[in-house]
Formats: sequence, C-alpha cells, structure tokens
Amino acid sequence: MNDTERAAGILRAGGLVSFPTETVYGLGADARNAVALRRLYSVKGRPADHPVIVHIGCTQQLNEFAAEVPATARVLADALWPGPLTLVLRRSARVPDEATGGLDTVGLRVPAHPIALQLLEAFGGGIAAPSANRFGKVSPTTADAVRSDLGNDVALVLDGGPCAVGIESTIVDCSGSEPRVLREGGISAERLRDVLGFEVPVGGTVRAPGTLAVHYAPRARVELLEAESLLSAAADYSAYGLRVGVIALGEAARSSGFVGSTSTTILAAPRDVAEYARCLYASLRRADDLDLDVVLAVPPPDVGVGAAVADRLRRAAASG
Ligand code: TXA
Ligand code: MG
Repeated sequence: MNDTERAAGILRAGGLVSFPTETVYGLGADARNAVALRRLYSVKGRPADHPVIVHIGCTQQLNEFAAEVPATARVLADALWPGPLTLVLRRSARVPDEATGGLDTVGLRVPAHPIALQLLEAFGGGIAAPSANRFGKVSPTTADAVRSDLGNDVALVLDGGPCAVGIESTIVDCSGSEPRVLREGGISAERLRDVLGFEVPVGGTVRAPGTLAVHYAPRARVELLEAESLLSAAADYSAYGLRVGVIALGEAARSSGFVGSTSTTILAAPRDVAEYARCLYASLRRADDLDLDVVLAVPPPDVGVGAAVADRLRRAAASG
C-alpha cells in the first residue's frame, strides 16, 4: 500500500491526515463523518461555529455537495479548478452541520496538487480540510511545519514539498444574488474579472476565521512600513537591543539602502509578488524559530496576489 492509499484508509476509519495543496497544507477528515469532523475541530482548536472547506476531486462532484450551482459558480469552476479558488454554495442535505458550522452553505474546492488529487481519488468522497495549523496561527506551507504544529495529533502527513502558491485560496460566495469575495487569496481580483467579465466586490458579512482582524500572526510583533523607513526603523530597534527581521521585495529592500547588519535578519527578499506569497508564511515561522522580537515588512504592490499578501500582513500586524 502506498502512502496515499494508507491516508485514504485512515480517513475512512474516521482519522485525520495532513496533505499538501498548492496553497497551504490541509488537515483532512471525511466530510461526511460527524465524529471525525468533531475531532478535526478539537485538534485545530477551532470554534465549532466556523465552517471548513470541503475538498473534492473534480467539478462533477459539485452536485453531490451543493444544492444548487448558479451560472457564475459554474463558469468560475470550469475556468479555475483545479486551483486556489473556494466557492461558497448552498449546501446539499448530504453535508453534515459539523462541516459548515451550522450555515446553510458549504465551501467547496478542487485543489491543484497531484498528491491532493490522488488522495481525493483514492478516498472517493469529499475531504473537509482547514489549514493544518492550530487556530489563529500561521498556515503551514511545508510538511515539517505541519509536524511541528500538530505533532502526534495527526496520524499521517503526506509530504509534497513546499506549496507553490503559499497563501490560502480565494473564497467567492456564490450563494447570494451576486458573487462576493469573502477572502482574497491565490486567485487575483484581475483573474476573476477576466473570467467573469465584471469586477467581483470584496467583503461580506459571513463569519470566516480567515477574515478575522487578528489571524496569521507569529509570536514576533509584525510592523508594516514603507521601504523608505526600513533602514532607520531597523537601526532604531536594534539600538534598543531588539532582534529584527525584514521581509520586503528585493527591489524595495535595495532602494531603501537597507543592506542588513549583524542584528538584523533578512527573512525574505522575494523578486516578485508570487514569490512573496510563496515565502511569506515560512518567513513568519522562521522569525519565531530565530526568536526575533520584531518583523519589519514592506507590503508588496496591490497587483495580482500582492493584494492577498498585503491582506495577510495587515492581519499578522493587527495582533499588536
Ligand atoms: O487554500 C485553502 O483554502 C486551504 C487549503 C487547505 O485548501 N484551506 C483553508 O482552510 O484555508 P481554513 O479552514 O483555514 O479557511 C477556510 C475559510 C475560513 O475562513 C472559513 O470560515 C471559510 O473558509 N468558509 C468555509 N466554508 C464557508 C462558508 N460556507 N461560508 C463562508 N465561509 C466559509
Ligand atoms: Mg486557516
């Protein structure tokens, strides 16, 4: 038996497995097993009224979990699945309350990762999976990060290497009269507009932990600033004996004249917004591993996935 088949067996028996997706690692449970779902919530430390995303293997399975699939959702699914997009739809009677926090909708997505797709195929059903971190913490983008967060609470971690996108899926609510983006993520606003031919408004009233003001926070304090202030801020904090880390586009770091010093660690200097997304969570985790006091981050420009990266940085900084 290979690892994917073992993982499918664990899911069938009501256990939890972690698997890679293109966005972040998920902590999976059988989406139709209420006992397994309760276990999932307890390991995550997540309040029972927060819904989880149900992962499916192909677009055809939409009808199994959604009560109705509006034209807009169909267009998005056909164009962007497998991919970092979650669609919120009215749920079918087959989805247990435990997967939706009692809401009458369900979040569904087909992930674009060969191991995730193999697992979904071997298992055959839907896999409910939040990100494989404890509630409120930074999402894991490597198998090691999952193991260090969840330890023995997860039966098996399928290792697919570092995640290619690095931040979570974009969530589009298609259950109302017009679509809305509930969470910015791996699919940019530009891409949604290209596919649909109109702008999808951002924001909604549905509760979603990924939309809480404080989320994605490392232990170190995260401070957002402009590239021009990087040099002096790093020098000031260092002068007070604080251990400083820096995250900024390579270009921004260079233009600020910032070259680093012995008391300052350059956590990441990505070349573009996609690389920024890919290395963001690992950089925040590294800040904690190195026991840094402050992370100075220059948010990327608001293009492509840059908007979602800036959103995560604002939430990481909101914990003060
Ligand atoms: O990229 C991702 O989406 C990753 C990978 C593993 O697929 N998953 C992920 O799951 O980020 P999680 O649980 O950390 O975040 C899921 C978000 C939450 O903010 C949740 O509230 C929202 O999806 N969500 C799920 N179902 C929903 C629903 N029916 N209505 C509104 N929001 C929903
Ligand atoms: Mg999460």
